[in-house]
Amino acid sequence: MSKIKIIGVGGSPRKNGNTDLLLDSFLKGAESAGANIKKVQLRDYSIEFCIGCEACRKTGVCTQFHDGMSLLYPEINESKGIILGSPTYNYNVTALMKAFIDRLYPYYNFTNEHPRNYSSNLAGQGRKAIVFSVCEQLDIKEMGFALEALEMPLEALGYDVLEKFPVTGYFSRGSVSKNELLLKKAFEAGKKMVLTLR
Ligand SMILES: Cc1cc2nc3c(=O)[nH]c(=O)nc-3n(C[C@H](O)[C@H](O)[C@H](O)COP(=O)(O)O)c2cc1C
Repeated sequence: MSKIKIIGVGGSPRKNGNTDLLLDSFLKGAESAGANIKKVQLRDYSIEFCIGCEACRKTGVCTQFHDGMSLLYPEINESKGIILGSPTYNYNVTALMKAFIDRLYPYYNFTNEHPRNYSSNLAGQGRKAIVFSVCEQLDIKEMGFALEALEMPLEALGYDVLEKFPVTGYFSRGSVSKNELLLKKAFEAGKKMVLTLR
């Protein structure tokens, strides 16, 4: 039996920061349950933002840019599970993460009337997801809509979002490492996703 593949996508520009550490914990949990894991730090890829040319409507792929996303589309296709994490930047996800999400547009099929109905090429395949965000302030309100900004596009693409994982109260680089219980919770969530996918 081939291994379940899980892709973890981190949207922090800051290396070794809180998002990185949490993503590592989710992925280690997934690996402990027997998954084949792939970690993607968006800062290591050159990703143009979608310019709305709509060329992908005809071809089903992005023909406008040949950039980091050309490497990531095959990884997404092959991965039954996805973990998306971003630090909260101004109540939302980072620009890196937003660019990545917008570039998932080629997965949609649209009808011709307006407003167009849509379906996703990733739907109906039992795909699962975990989303998380980490912010400085303690009050969850200060996370704004970062979690929804991760969750809603994944749901529209046909993922079943198993876990929305907010982490509040961390500012300094890597300070989440002090909270072993939190990292363990992330580990367990990653593990559970793989068990659910079996
Ligand atoms: C541009 C910018 C915007 C931010 N906006 C928020 C915010 O809206 N709410 C909040 O609580 N923290 C905010 N923060 C703090 C980060 O979310 C926090 O430091 C987080 O731990 C960074 O994650 P990282 O270590 O993975 O980069 C912001 C930080 C930056 C640099």
